Amino acid sequence: MIEPTRFQHSSVGAALAREIDAWRSAGPATATDGLALARLITGELRRIGRHALPPPLLDALAEIAEGSRGRDPFLDDYLDAVLARHEDRFQNSAYLALPLLGRILADPASGPERLSALLLADVVRHEERHRDRTGRGVSCKRIRQAARFVRAVDRSLDSDVAPPATLAGAWFELTALPVSTEHDEYFFIRALQAHELVFTTLTDLLRGATTAVRSGRLDEATARVERASAVFERASLLFRLVATMSVDAFHGFRRYTDGASAIQSEAYKRFEIACGEPGSARLASEAFAGVPAVREEADDHDNLARALADLAAGGPRRGAAAIAEAVAKLEAAHQRWKTTHHSLAVRMLGDAPGSGYTAGVPYLAACRANRLVGVCDGAAA
Ligand code: HEM
Repeated sequence: MIEPTRFQHSSVGAALAREIDAWRSAGPATATDGLALARLITGELRRIGRHALPPPLLDALAEIAEGSRGRDPFLDDYLDAVLARHEDRFQNSAYLALPLLGRILADPASGPERLSALLLADVVRHEERHRDRTGRGVSCKRIRQAARFVRAVDRSLDSDVAPPATLAGAWFELTALPVSTEHDEYFFIRALQAHELVFTTLTDLLRGATTAVRSGRLDEATARVERASAVFERASLLFRLVATMSVDAFHGFRRYTDGASAIQSEAYKRFEIACGEPGSARLASEAFAGVPAVREEADDHDNLARALADLAAGGPRRGAAAIAEAVAKLEAAHQRWKTTHHSLAVRMLGDAPGSGYTAGVPYLAACRANRLVGVCDGAAA
């Protein structure tokens, strides 16, 4: 048998080089081998930034990814994220390692809300560990905001809550893969990942509310929509957290995130189509261009707006006013969310275009006219 050439690169540590050689000659033997490789890669990547991983290292990892695909799904997802820029498919889901996070979410010990709390608890730990990297005031504020989010998810949780002691839990720490060495990028990634999970929770609540309306259980539907408003308010804590970042720090990593934008967030768009039917202009716009799978789902998808319209067509119903009120509150929460997002973008971005190639702030300003559930004021998004 021909031995593969030994991996060598002046900037890659000896332990990672040895691990690469082992993988190229034998492949994984146990479920934790993938973890060991990923930990070494992550160490390297956090030291120099994902964007600076040398091409020979990326070529070697691409070879491992191809040769071992299917043997360890966690490693497959991990390497897909690490290699995304190298393979010219860098987008939001690769930036945030969302497929890997999704695999952790599928672990019975996790759920979207608990996982979002774990992400913010990780921010607390990270910021406490690196207090010297930010001014004292900013560091305290950031830790406070992150800890508030953890408690808002579940009052019984402390910010020292740790990932479950499962294989999925062990991969949790490997889901923050900064593209730069800018300290603030780590917490920014965690905030965006938590936001994704917030939208996943909201979609579940909205779908449940739609089913409840269809079955005539209006009290249950109202309770679900009210809970969705509360979850949305929790999302604004994440914006407050992101607002602790300086404009310079943001631009320090943004130059490497080109092509990855939350406009490609499937979770946000799924929430949108669970609420109501986006108008044909929005469906055909850049808003849905980056989420083709969700655009397809939208064609034939029940939603709360449609269920409420059908309910209203059947004549007056006890409980209809309460759900209309709950929907109006949800709409207001979404409007506040968009306003805060817009203000943040004005401060951070100014006149620059968005990383998703929209005009940036003008795009977000126009989105404020959209509505989620067309029935509450007759305006469709
Ligand atoms: C520094 C902070 C941020 C800036 C400057 C910013 C900027 C932008 C811009 C310019 C867009 C338009 C699409 C594009 O061209 O990229 C956008 C879209 C979006 N952003 Fe942000 N954003 C920030 C933080 C966040 C955070 C923390 C979230 C949390 C989820 C978020 C969620 C979204 C979503 C869901 C969209 C898509 C909106 C739509 O499709 O209508 N953004 N953002």
